[in-house]
Amino acid sequence: MSQQNTVLVTAPTGNVGPHAVAQLLEAGATVRALVLKDDPNVGRLPEGTEIFHGDLTEPDTLDAALDGVDGVFLMWPFFTTDVSTAPAVIEKIAARPRRVAFVSSVGVHIGLERVDNNCHAYIEELLEPTDVDWTFLRTTGFQANALGFAEQIRASGVVRFPYGAAVRTSVHEADLAAVGVTALLTGAHARQKYLVTGAEELSQREQARIIGEVVGRAVDWEDVEHDAARAAMVASGWPPAYADGALDYFATITEKPELGSTVVQDVTGRPARTFRSWAQEHADAFR
Ligand SMILES: NC(=O)c1ccc[n+]([C@@H]2O[C@H](COP(=O)([O-])OP(=O)(O)OC[C@H]3O[C@@H](n4cnc5c(N)ncnc54)[C@H](OP(=O)(O)O)[C@@H]3O)[C@@H](O)[C@H]2O)c1
Repeated sequence: MSQQNTVLVTAPTGNVGPHAVAQLLEAGATVRALVLKDDPNVGRLPEGTEIFHGDLTEPDTLDAALDGVDGVFLMWPFFTTDVSTAPAVIEKIAARPRRVAFVSSVGVHIGLERVDNNCHAYIEELLEPTDVDWTFLRTTGFQANALGFAEQIRASGVVRFPYGAAVRTSVHEADLAAVGVTALLTGAHARQKYLVTGAEELSQREQARIIGEVVGRAVDWEDVEHDAARAAMVASGWPPAYADGALDYFATITEKPELGSTVVQDVTGRPARTFRSWAQEHADAFR
């Protein structure tokens, strides 16, 4: 891999970003992290990361971070494209780097996420006609989504959540990052729309059980009914259409497991990490 790549990572202090930054640094790239001013999570970034202050809702604040970069590991940390700056941001990105790896969603892959409302489909649509060598990482759920069970497991050992029987092929955030990093550093995956998943099919209830085994306590599951779950999601800030989409998707994958792929193995040459290994790494969050 080239030693001379300079790569900008957006949303770098979320679940995926720290893995992307660390892997890029390890491969010898120069890594820039786009962070909001006063980001309290900036300490999660490894030493050697170049910090650039910028806000994805204010395109002009991205200029310094994009100046001279070869690639962007792009994450769009908003539910929708109500953030009307998306076209200006993508225009700026498309004018500079050679390569972009964009973390998209399985919802686009299966046609559930329509362009007019959803960020993933819309950002893909903006990037697709540009001259950039883009790679779309259409991912199923993150294994880290199970952190949403942590408070309940710690407090009561019971997870109350909708659709325990929904069967997921959740991906480890480090594997997702590795696919994007490989695409950015090798240039070998231009214009690919990859479905990025883990290698296992596990229901949400099974994920909770595995967490219980890892931390040494029984973990039970109680399904929250669809309408109550929708009300809670909307109350916590989800746009109603997004809550409906997520719950409809859970219902679908209760009937038939969500799609899986071998992209992690194929692109990185390593098997996808298991959910149990993720739970072991994050056991403290559940104790
Ligand atoms: N979770 C899933 O199952 C799933 C599935 C499919 C696709 N995805 C995609 O994966 C992406 C990455 O997820 P993630 O969990 O790693 O991260 P995330 O929670 O989406 O993003 C968090 C990061 O975004 C930064 N951020 C927030 N507002 C910003 C702004 N206005 N300008 C610049 N940065 C801003 C945050 O900074 P602060 O620390 O300062 O807040 C933080 O670094 C998501 O955005 C989503 O599109 C997720």
